Amino acid sequence: MSQATSPTTRDTVRFMLDGEVVSVSGLPPTTTVLEYLRDTAGRTGTKEGCSEGDCGACTVVLGELAADGHGIDYRAVNSCVRFLPTIDGKELITVESLQAADGRLHPVQRAMVDCHGSQCGFCTPGFVMSLFALYLERESPTREQVIGALAGNLCRCTGYRPIIDAGCRMAQYPEPARWSRKDAQSAGRAQQLRALQRTAPGPTLRFPGFQAPRSLDELASVLAAAPDSLLLAGGTDIGLLATKHLHDLPALVYLGAVPELQQIRSSDAGLCIGAGVPLSAAWPALLELYPALAEQAARFASPPVCNSATLCGNIANGSPIGDSMPALIALGAELELRHGARQRRIPLERLYLGYQKKDLAPGEFILSVLVPLPKPGRLFASYKLAKRIDQDISAVCAAFAVHVTDGGVASARLAYGGMAAIPARAPNAEQALVGQPWSEATIESAIAALATDFTPLTDSRASRSYRLRAAGSMLRRFYLQHTGRTLRLRVTDPASAVELT
Ligand code: FAD
Ligand code: FES
Ligand code: FES
Repeated sequence: MSQATSPTTRDTVRFMLDGEVVSVSGLPPTTTVLEYLRDTAGRTGTKEGCSEGDCGACTVVLGELAADGHGIDYRAVNSCVRFLPTIDGKELITVESLQAADGRLHPVQRAMVDCHGSQCGFCTPGFVMSLFALYLERESPTREQVIGALAGNLCRCTGYRPIIDAGCRMAQYPEPARWSRKDAQSAGRAQQLRALQRTAPGPTLRFPGFQAPRSLDELASVLAAAPDSLLLAGGTDIGLLATKHLHDLPALVYLGAVPELQQIRSSDAGLCIGAGVPLSAAWPALLELYPALAEQAARFASPPVCNSATLCGNIANGSPIGDSMPALIALGAELELRHGARQRRIPLERLYLGYQKKDLAPGEFILSVLVPLPKPGRLFASYKLAKRIDQDISAVCAAFAVHVTDGGVASARLAYGGMAAIPARAPNAEQALVGQPWSEATIESAIAALATDFTPLTDSRASRSYRLRAAGSMLRRFYLQHTGRTLRLRVTDPASAVELT
């Protein structure tokens, strides 16, 4: 790494660890937080299991100033797919941080011991850190909340009950002096974080292969001037290119330091979710408008993944089996795009031109996604079909927005993932619905039309015929759900809002 900096840039990553400001320079930009901890800092409590965000062994907690500038938000993240420069200005907490100076265990650790939550111990630091984030967030978490917080942690030997018990019991221990909720929010800690971040008009973190612009205009001009660089958001897709596929990545331009992109705005037009907003903040905002997205939100990755991953990153990545796009397309979401000084708006479905081909010019990027408000009379649901409830990739994903008036279908938007090379609407099935009575017969004819809309692939997740049948069954489920019928499903789905019998 070159040390050449101008007064408006710096090449040293700075973050807080155990009350000290740590400065790091000279590491490749794709060094993960996990690699830094184990290979440079000698903090080997954090483990490497899968290196792709799936097992949770590498979980650490990041603290950052809350949006209102008061207090600190703490979130668990997977250190294996998080590049070190992206924790600039944040507080890093690892399993080593938790124990008191006199050796006393933190309540989370104490509860794990008392509930026999560990055997070989490999997964234990990750579980402890996921529970620790929950400990700071909630005074007395429910069992469901504990299970939700642990959705991204795998254990191959203990079994989950003792670990979940520990999560339910941790709040019963006396608050520790170090890392109580009060300690985590202490004025001194917030002041230190503020000092780390208080750099306006801001030296931009920049070194060969990485830069983190600090304003929207700076980001736009950097990307326009270097269109071959790779825009980095949460890095939960990009991280895997480095850790699993061992790709040499182009220069990274990180959008996480641009304040304008970290906002969610609500207006009469709907919800505007900025490109830097993590899914853990985007989902609750979407759920306020569309509670029917609850299953989708609960089953999208794990809390540590959603604490890094962005909604716009999911959209931009454009995987045919990405989970958010069918729902957003069905709802008629639009994208705000920016290229240099120019801005344009397109319907989300127009972004996808073909497999991994998008209507994005080199250097152009997504500013935000605009989700319209619910409309009276419009029925909406979104479904994900995967082999596991948690942390699994969809075989088929579907979302339906159907406007029914006077017993007839006035309009219909049916969107699917996993059925084509891109997330796509089903125009023939939509046509079979519109203008027809809202009835079982109409639904069956729309289901038949799906075969003319899609020729899905057979792959390891599902065969072509299974995907087609599942796509039809999801539409049938939608109809039954909205005509007050209970459903009989083979798999009990605790995350589903639908009543299962
Ligand atoms: P990044 O990795 O930062 O970027 C992804 C791509 O989008 C890159 O090409 C980047 O250049 C581009 N990009 C990012 N932001 C912009 C922008 N504003 N404008 C233009 N281009 C941009 N996905 C699912 O759909 N469902 C799941 O259940 C799911 N589970 C997962 C579980 C694990 C363990 C992991 C590791 C990933 C999972 N994913 C899942 C995939 C991933 O988390 C999502 O696609 C995520 O939303 C990507 O967002 P990001 O911010 O991390 O994107
Ligand atoms: Fe498995 Fe990071 S090592 S999630
Ligand atoms: Fe061995 Fe969990 S205790 S993997």
